[in-house]
Amino acid sequence: MVSMDKIVALCKRRGFIYPSSEIYGGIAGFWDYGPLGVELKNNIKREWWKKMIYEREDVVGLDAAIVMNPKVWEASGHVQGFIDPLVECKSCHSRFREDKIIDNICPNCGEKDRFTEPKKFNLLTEVYLGVTEPKAKVYLRGEITQGVFVNFQNIVNSSRVKIPFGIAQIGKAFRNEITPGNFTYRTIEFEQMELEYFIRPDVKEAEETFEYWRQQRIGWYKSLGIRSEFLRFKKHADDERAHYARAAYDIEYKAPFGWSEFEGIHHRGDWDLGRHKLKHKDPETGDEYTPWVIETSGGVDRAALFFLVDAYQEEEKRIVLKIHKRLAPYKVAVFPLLANKSELVDKGKKVYALLKLSFFTAWDDRGNIGKRYFAQDEIGTPFCVTIDYETLKNDTVTVRDRDSMKQERVNIDQLINYLQNKL
Ligand code: GAP
Repeated sequence: MVSMDKIVALCKRRGFIYPSSEIYGGIAGFWDYGPLGVELKNNIKREWWKKMIYEREDVVGLDAAIVMNPKVWEASGHVQGFIDPLVECKSCHSRFREDKIIDNICPNCGEKDRFTEPKKFNLLTEVYLGVTEPKAKVYLRGEITQGVFVNFQNIVNSSRVKIPFGIAQIGKAFRNEITPGNFTYRTIEFEQMELEYFIRPDVKEAEETFEYWRQQRIGWYKSLGIRSEFLRFKKHADDERAHYARAAYDIEYKAPFGWSEFEGIHHRGDWDLGRHKLKHKDPETGDEYTPWVIETSGGVDRAALFFLVDAYQEEEKRIVLKIHKRLAPYKVAVFPLLANKSELVDKGKKVYALLKLSFFTAWDDRGNIGKRYFAQDEIGTPFCVTIDYETLKNDTVTVRDRDSMKQERVNIDQLINYLQNKL
């Protein structure tokens, strides 16, 4: 399996991910997405939105504000219950989440049994608003979820949803993590893509809906190319569950640093709507009840990281990202066979201008053609189009496939159709 060092190096070298504010020494727990990283993330989010909203009839979207009235976080239980137990090594004074300590050995200095008693540490990030003192303390949202619950009534009143239905959202969340790490796996600022699915308060319906969404979500990762044997479910034990969850499973990925949470599927019951004192009146029967919620909550950054890790392959002569075509940042690259022949470059620019209207397209005329192919393989570009002397004679180009490295000659008139079918 690829090492994290190689992934981090590739991400920096090719413009996927950089350390945040690097010229000032960086800042732990924050990362910036470069020109290719932002494309990858946008593609992941677009695929998710398509699957969770556009292909369904029972889910609507939302984009709630990051900062909310702090009463939301008191009601939701996060002010009191969103905590990690923190311990400190008495030898080296490093701090860790208690549940991350194995066999009571300090992961930093290796001393055994030298930990302080655990202290409770709230993960909510505080910020201060206003121009006059004292400023008002508010929180950056610790999960994007609460924006859905506080808008539940608005959505019921303003759209044609009927229970069972879902509200989906993608957005930034912030957690004061004690130990951010493993590159973008655990960060302080990150993005979530979540569905809150509202059902009647019924045990059987809850079990079936929970199972349905577990299968839907693991199926989505597989449909976008993640190897099945690198995915598994992990059930949360009673003492591992978040304060809001009646039942919880993680979808885990076999990362270079071990099996790690990709996405959580939670049965939140009536916890949230109950705490916000929200009820639902069935428009047909007049019954009033507090709906239950089944939630799917994935991290966009973790998805980007694991899609990269899973796609990375080293072959004899090249590094290739065999990432799903729909997720690849560039869909196609265009090269003139020789950069110093103006007739090839001019023709190539015309093909490039044509393709750019339909696909995110790269242009490269540096170095030799073999190097250009390998440079595109390393960033996962599915197709490379080369303009050669035959192009000038008969208006055909070669199209090279990233995975098989085979080339086909295609008429320029047919090129958009050809690529659209393959993509
Ligand atoms: N609303 C439920 C919720 O937030 P969670 O299991 O705490 O549940 C859901 O988080 C997902 O958000 C995780 O599976 C992970 O993909 C992502 N996530 C959570 N904390 C993260 C962090 N510090 N850095 C990056 N991603 C994180």
